[in-house]
Amino acid sequence: MAGPICSGRRAEASPIVTVVTWRSTSDRLPSARPFMTDVMIRRLEPSDAQAYRDLRLEALAASPEAFGSSHEEEAPLPLETIRARISATSPNAIFGAFTGDRLVGMAGFAVHERAKASHKGLMWGVYVQADRRGLGLGKRLVEQVIDHASRHVIMLEAAVGTTNESARRTYHALGFRPYGIERKALRVGDVFYDEELLFIEFGAPDP
Ligand SMILES: CC(C)(COP(=O)(O)OP(=O)(O)OC[C@H]1O[C@@H](n2cnc3c(N)ncnc32)[C@H](O)[C@@H]1OP(=O)(O)O)[C@@H](O)C(=O)NCCC(=O)NCCS
Repeated sequence: MAGPICSGRRAEASPIVTVVTWRSTSDRLPSARPFMTDVMIRRLEPSDAQAYRDLRLEALAASPEAFGSSHEEEAPLPLETIRARISATSPNAIFGAFTGDRLVGMAGFAVHERAKASHKGLMWGVYVQADRRGLGLGKRLVEQVIDHASRHVIMLEAAVGTTNESARRTYHALGFRPYGIERKALRVGDVFYDEELLFIEFGAPDP
């Protein structure tokens, strides 16, 4: 199932910034949606902290079952903490999708801290604003994380709700393979959510 994107080591670094032009005629889209818009995918910088925080809190409020963290935990965090999260030591990174100046999507990458697990990375915090979904942004963000991860770790892990069809489709299509189910991985109120555990194995990262 793994496509070419995870077939091995990348010969050269890809640019941090990619400009995506979408031209979607998907029947999921309301006719009022712009036919073509330029989207920039780039790594977030400390100056994006306020926009990132707004989007992150929106994501946690709108899709609590999709994230390990909660709105209640993150809303009180000072902007300085958010800025520090964005500026985390490379190769940890958060990528954003922008339409014009507006941050409309995001996806994070973090390497396990402990020495014996530092060959593994985690994709986390994938989100696209509801009015921008179905246009390929989720895929572009996940591709960016996979590409970045392939240059820094041997294994990339992710977890997705077993009933989250759009995210599962996205991850599977880009080469993630399931290796198990974590029963009752998350609890939101009185409801438990199972998660599918996923991985991509790369060749050795660049020295
Ligand atoms: C998951 C998410 C990031 C996908 O973003 P997106 O920009 O809509 O994704 P894309 O446009 O790239 O579409 C990716 C795939 O999802 C499918 N998809 C999009 N909307 C869908 C829907 N409503 N139902 C089922 N599949 C859907 C698309 O068909 C596409 O698959 P395809 O190429 O085989 O057709 C977005 O739905 C989201 O933010 N959801 C809430 C938060 C979340 O679940 N995050 C993931 C946590 S693991």
